[in-house]
Amino acid sequence: MIEVKQLSKMFGTTLAVDNIDFTANSGEIFGLLGPNGAGKSTTINCISGLTNATEGSVEINGFNISSDGVKAKQSLGLVPQELALYEDLSAHENLLFWGSAYGLGGEELEQRIQQVLQNVGLENRQKEAVKQFSGGMKRRLNFACAILHKPAALLLDEPTVGVDPQSREHLLSAIEDLKKAGTSVIYTTHYMEEAERLCDKLAIIDQGKIIASGTVDDLRAQVGERDLITLKGHFKNTGESSHFDELNAEVLEFSDDEIRFLIADASNKLTDVLSIVEKNFGKVAHVSIQQANLESLFIKLTGRALRDDA
Ligand SMILES: Nc1ncnc2c1ncn2[C@@H]1O[C@H](COP(=O)(O)OP(=O)(O)O)[C@@H](O)[C@H]1O
Ligand SMILES: [Mg+2]
Repeated sequence: MIEVKQLSKMFGTTLAVDNIDFTANSGEIFGLLGPNGAGKSTTINCISGLTNATEGSVEINGFNISSDGVKAKQSLGLVPQELALYEDLSAHENLLFWGSAYGLGGEELEQRIQQVLQNVGLENRQKEAVKQFSGGMKRRLNFACAILHKPAALLLDEPTVGVDPQSREHLLSAIEDLKKAGTSVIYTTHYMEEAERLCDKLAIIDQGKIIASGTVDDLRAQVGERDLITLKGHFKNTGESSHFDELNAEVLEFSDDEIRFLIADASNKLTDVLSIVEKNFGKVAHVSIQQANLESLFIKLTGRALRDDA
């Protein structure tokens, strides 16, 4: 179990993490979903003891990370955002190195190495030097290194960024297996699809603060059974919102080139939407309709998209 209480971290005058609380129980994946710079890595680094929190406390299986660091770390595995691998060594040699760092050795370590290689689908590549691996294979090995000692609590900091679909699937299913085996997992990501698939509970984090939290269903309920329509084109905001009120739509974002709003039963209302927008605000060049999801909630709460490319 991982318990984070009133955690804050200042870097100079930057408040990177602002008074956050959450708990990941055994057999539970807790997600921290937020854009770049939200404070996800800083939170992970405070939990793992790499960074000293400015305020608040972290307990891993009842052991405080600052006053009982050695015991707390024994049951902790960390997959950092940056790879921590020796490129010139083989996958197997990297695992031997990490295993001995955890105090494992002999036949027990060799068995664990073969087990974790199998978990991430790298058993046939174990003799190859890491520098020959693809980015996705390196991420899988990075993950394998972190779970060698069967940690009861596991911290994963954006483990799937830049990986190919096959590696991503290997990683996600390995994480699901650990959850089933009772591990407490904290998972940071800016991919809302991953958060929706994996997380039992999650917190949406922005500018160091938790702005919403709960189960995926709790969070979806905050946007309701509505669809998200995104219109791209050239618009002029006349400040006249009654046109949208007429459609029973909630406008989340209105800029010169983009309008986003939530609306029930979008596909049936699209003709009305387009004629009202074109009559009042300008030409529509592109339309997309999505089911309301965590991304819609993020836009609703912050007025911004979660991803740069969204
Ligand atoms: N070592 C550091 N020194 C100063 N500022 C930092 C440091 N690490 C992170 N920050 C700042 O803290 C904020 C949160 O960063 P980070 O935790 O890396 O976000 P995320 O992982 O969500 O992208 C950002 O404004 C970042 O610039
Ligand atoms: Mg980060």
